[in-house]
Amino acid sequence: MYTEDKMSKGIKNICCIGAGYVGGPTMAVIAKKCPNIIVTVVDINEKKIDDWNNSDLTKLPIFEPGLDLIIKKCRNKNLFFTSDIKESIAKADMVFISVNTPTKTSGVGAGRASDLKWVEESARTVVKFAKGKTIVVEKSTIPVRTAEVIKCILDTSSDKRGEKKEFSILSNPEFLSEGNAIRDLENPDRVLIGGDDEKSIESLFNIYKEWVIPEKILCTNIWSSELSKLAANAFLAQKISSINTISGLCEKSGAEINEVAKAIGMDSRIGSQFLNAGPGFGGSCFKKDILNLIYLSDFYKLPEVAEYWEKVLEINHWQQNRIVEKIVSTLFGTLNRKKIAILGFSFKANTNDTRNSPAIKICKDLLGEGANLKIFDPKVDSKQIEKELNSKELDFISDENKGSWEYAESIYDAVQDSLGIVVLTEWEEFKSINWEKVSLLTRDPIWLFDTRNICNINEARTNNILVWNVGL
Ligand code: UDX
Ligand code: ADP
Repeated sequence: MYTEDKMSKGIKNICCIGAGYVGGPTMAVIAKKCPNIIVTVVDINEKKIDDWNNSDLTKLPIFEPGLDLIIKKCRNKNLFFTSDIKESIAKADMVFISVNTPTKTSGVGAGRASDLKWVEESARTVVKFAKGKTIVVEKSTIPVRTAEVIKCILDTSSDKRGEKKEFSILSNPEFLSEGNAIRDLENPDRVLIGGDDEKSIESLFNIYKEWVIPEKILCTNIWSSELSKLAANAFLAQKISSINTISGLCEKSGAEINEVAKAIGMDSRIGSQFLNAGPGFGGSCFKKDILNLIYLSDFYKLPEVAEYWEKVLEINHWQQNRIVEKIVSTLFGTLNRKKIAILGFSFKANTNDTRNSPAIKICKDLLGEGANLKIFDPKVDSKQIEKELNSKELDFISDENKGSWEYAESIYDAVQDSLGIVVLTEWEEFKSINWEKVSLLTRDPIWLFDTRNICNINEARTNNILVWNVGL
């Protein structure tokens, strides 16, 4: 049970609701850095919990470099994965909410506002099972003022039952980037803690202080913390859309995107990161967070602000559309029954996450053009691709004009008999493709569309492969 002393001096038991891409790695790193804290991760998805407990570390539910080693070191020592939500919350001094918050698909705010039903459900679960005083930390990416929703549920439910439960709420947004999650968590640029209860802030501050220097731990009011997360992601996404507009200009003008990106990135005010032109940004956060900003701006009657951020999303769509158009026009205006190899399906390298991956839209558009795709990704399995591509969007196309797709086991399996090769994710192994081997397996003329500018195009060209690069 919580005592004043415990709150300011040290947290002993943490529970995290949600064992996904955020909850799993974040709790693994807290467990590693704070061996005296018991960290329990719970999820309603029992299969996911089983996977986290799998003794075969290659079967963990998410792929993240370095994560397996931490799981091996901490699991069942001070890091636990369980479906026993009741018990885990009851004994926790601090509960992190790390559940999914996708964009609403229907009702008020559909297509823009976040669906908070999982956050709301988590808050209700906390209020039901918590004992004594509990610090609730919002970790999921959420719209501004979500803390108010959580607080309302926690306070009113607790009063009505007449039980002596006390809650304090903190916002502690996650800035980890998938594929680099462990590095980002162990060595963050900053940690943000928003809240108004000093003792609770201090408790969370003390956890991070175990491995992050105090100067990097920022304490703000709760709304600044929530808005900072949305703003940081919107700025990053804006940088990608900006460089993608320039890639279009480069292709027309003879300038080269790599040279332009390097030249502008050397200005320290701009910075060299996030200047890689590509097939547009994907992932679970950027689009959702910008949609949240747009919704918020409209709500507060700031239409110009909403329009500004809408453009960032529009450019992202435009980039994907023009890549598809380029492929179609280059392959003589029709893809009907043409074999095309797709290399990479995850939204970026080093993750098996496909949420909002540019590959989804690009593959669907190519299927709509009648192409026969062979898709290879080192970490995304065929079931996941099936889930993403099997949509009703193509139903209006007759079967004879609709393309098909199949899963490839390797790069060389994917390119067999193809007339086009489209690189969509910057996986390391695509940088060293054996183009001589590829040229023997493919048909002529064979085109490589490198949307990430990572392939060895000189070697490809030497082997009679025609090349299109984004921004060149
Ligand atoms: C992002 C933020 O970086 C992170 O701080 C936040 O907590 C969650 O959202 P993530 O979505 O995991 O992280 O990946 P990120 O590395 O930001 O990449 C997002 C997308 O932008 C990917 O599709 C990536 O391929 C693309 N991208 C990134 C580019 O197209 N060009 C770049 O230069 C960088
Ligand atoms: P993120 O990228 O934000 O981590 P994920 O979808 O990868 O999102 O993970 C969120 C996890 O939260 C899922 O595994 C989901 O089953 C879990 N979850 C959602 N609602 C609840 C809940 N009420 N109780 C426990 N777990 C939940």
